[in-house]
Amino acid sequence: MQSWLSCFNPACRVHFDIHDVIYNCPKCGGLLETQYDTTCIDAAILKRTFRERRMSNEPLEQSGVWRYRELFPFLDDYAHVVTLREGNTPLLQSTRAAAYGNLKNIAFKHQGFNPTGSFKDNGMTAGVAQARRLGMERVACVSTGNTSASMAAYASAGGLEPLIFIPNGNISYGKLAQALEYGAKTFQVDANFDQILALVRILTERLGIYLLNSINPFRIEGQKSIVIEMMDQRDWKVPDWIVLPGGNLGNVSAFGKGLRELHALGFIDRLPRLAVIQAAGASPFYEYMKDKTNFIPQHHPETLATAIKIGDPVSWPKAQFEIETTNGLVESVTEQEIADAKAIIGQSGIGCEPASAATLAGIRKLKLDREADVVAILTGNVLKDPDYIYRYHTGQLKGPDGTPITANYGNAPIVVPNDAARIEALL
Ligand code: F0G
Repeated sequence: MQSWLSCFNPACRVHFDIHDVIYNCPKCGGLLETQYDTTCIDAAILKRTFRERRMSNEPLEQSGVWRYRELFPFLDDYAHVVTLREGNTPLLQSTRAAAYGNLKNIAFKHQGFNPTGSFKDNGMTAGVAQARRLGMERVACVSTGNTSASMAAYASAGGLEPLIFIPNGNISYGKLAQALEYGAKTFQVDANFDQILALVRILTERLGIYLLNSINPFRIEGQKSIVIEMMDQRDWKVPDWIVLPGGNLGNVSAFGKGLRELHALGFIDRLPRLAVIQAAGASPFYEYMKDKTNFIPQHHPETLATAIKIGDPVSWPKAQFEIETTNGLVESVTEQEIADAKAIIGQSGIGCEPASAATLAGIRKLKLDREADVVAILTGNVLKDPDYIYRYHTGQLKGPDGTPITANYGNAPIVVPNDAARIEALL
């Protein structure tokens, strides 16, 4: 099947070779996307094939990404693939979370079940496969945590050298620990995410290093598998809403593209609506979408949800298109709202990292139809920010500006003497 890169800018749309090492259109500077000749795709046959592959012991079929490879056929040789059996993440129901969100039902698609603990693995397996296919030896990214852990794992597993750039003091120790353990050369830079991304783009260009941030169109292709797998798990029944947190806005771009393609190819009969939730202190896309006049980056984004602490999201034009195409919404939520929603998801026995909890906080705020069929994406694992969790439950959590966050659903440990009778009294 034929594949190529295309400029996403509607006024340009120039095509480029799939092997070109470019991240923006060389002609107009627009974002890039991959496109395919899909004339030989038969949805009914492929739906069956996807199911049958779940019974296979072949690594490629066991991957919750590559099992769906006909829907992103940019590789000509699957020997380039490195899989840690990413994807395969569950859809989990929660009565408690549904009630909190004023809904009858809710399902969480929990990407925190991925090998390195976040949805980044869905995209990284694709980005690293492209890097190997191009003969790249070094790969780089800037990250607030999840991307770095994911890239480090996939690059090392594939024999590439991972180079990671992180904002000094703004990464969780668990994530930094993963990057170090997976053998990444790690640079802590005294700047924020957006500033470091600009720096890394200069370095990767100068030194011939492959850039694996979400501006890379092949990562977006891998992340499409999140919605493809979700539809497969739902027997291709389309939900009313898919709700996800927004930072750099790569994931909403991937979801929108994946859903449009599923629809055009006859896998699904309509498009769900997409809702992107941002943290109030890092919400340039939310602000822009109010009147769509000027996209104004925020120079000092602030939120404890470090994964979405991004003031200048690169993929906003794609995100705008996908929100408009799906008749979607953008909302913003406060630190208190994120913390409380996170505790509710935790009380459901599910758990997630702060950025992921923005989904439930946003759902509560949006006051969706109670009967709506809603899937919320939990993008990362509960163990990302244990310090945040402990502080919340013990009433010590403070917002970025020092404002105390109330432990409305707190669950502090109880200090007891070594005395059965006294403990019995407490029980
Ligand atoms: N949720 C989690 C857990 C993330 O790690 C990220 C991004 C997002 C949501 C936002 O996704 O950028 O596609 O809108 N984390 C990046 C990182 C910034 O460095 O790991 P987006």
